[in-house]
Amino acid sequence: MEIVVSGIRPTGNLHLGNYFGALSNFLKMQQTHHCFFFIADYHSLTTHPTPSDLHGNVKQVLVEYLAAGIDPEKATLYIQSDLPETAELYLLLNMNAYMGELERVTTFKEKARKQAENVNAGLLTYPSLMAADIIIHKAHKVPVGKDQEQHLELTRTFARRFNRMYNHEFFPEPTAFNFGAELIKIPGLDGSGKMGKSEGEGNAIFLADDPKIIRKKVMRAVTDAGPTTPNQPMTEAVAILFSLMRTMSKPETVDHFLNEYNACTIRYGDLKKQLAEDIVNFTAPIRERIHELAADEKYLSKVATMGAEKAHESAGKTISEVREIIGFRKF
Ligand code: TYM
Repeated sequence: MEIVVSGIRPTGNLHLGNYFGALSNFLKMQQTHHCFFFIADYHSLTTHPTPSDLHGNVKQVLVEYLAAGIDPEKATLYIQSDLPETAELYLLLNMNAYMGELERVTTFKEKARKQAENVNAGLLTYPSLMAADIIIHKAHKVPVGKDQEQHLELTRTFARRFNRMYNHEFFPEPTAFNFGAELIKIPGLDGSGKMGKSEGEGNAIFLADDPKIIRKKVMRAVTDAGPTTPNQPMTEAVAILFSLMRTMSKPETVDHFLNEYNACTIRYGDLKKQLAEDIVNFTAPIRERIHELAADEKYLSKVATMGAEKAHESAGKTISEVREIIGFRKF
């Protein structure tokens, strides 16, 4: 059976970008693949070096994974820092990772610009840690959003390099995956490109947002003065609303508003109202489960312990084989 690995950083509540880029794929894949899903708390330190509530943030993602429908009996659900084998493999991969290739990574360049006062080594070697996460379970597929594509390319480079250097076909070369034909990028509501946790207020809609907030965020989204000639190309802001609508709403709804747009009779207020209701209906059951699960510490602890044990079984085997291949042997 094919092996699947993916993770999410605990740096804020999960939003629709996380859901449609990654989580929705996790939910399907757990039925058919051997899945490992984790909370990337080591990675979160590259941008949040002294988090005020790391444990609380990890708990929030654990709760949201479960509320969205990850079944911890089917998939292995664990916390990255519960698996020290990952840290060991990261160290070993770093010995064969080159400054030049790490410095060329777009997310590194972006983060280095954003946090110029803290361009730490963890930020530079972020892709080696991510590769370690993935190949520690010898994964084949990695469900992620479009923004992770370059990291996956490097993961394949590191896996291939290891195999070649030690002349051993050991690690498979994993690929980024989405059930649709392509990896996706959900845009933010404020027109700033990607929906993200650390963008400004009003950019992201979170799974845990209550209906009032969702309606407010959608109603505030930027639009334009409206089309004046039939079939006029859309401005970026309006294209974003349609793009969200395509993910959230029924195809008939999208067609209805598209026809109105093309006929220049569209009222953006109506489109936003419909979009907000579709988002509210979609997130309501998840939000309810978030509240229930957050109160059940005993269950969360059971899930995390079971996940760590299962992950350890798989990772322990890989790391002892890697040690053997490299030549760390017992006297
Ligand atoms: P993170 O925590 O930033 O995001 C988690 C997942 O959500 C996807 N995503 C999006 N997809 C579409 N549109 C968006 N606007 C959007 N925003 C976020 C991300 O692509 C990601 O799949 N480096 C990873 C965490 C990680 C990981 C791994 C992933 C660490 N180790 C190993 C896979 C395998 C990250 O920062 O994701």
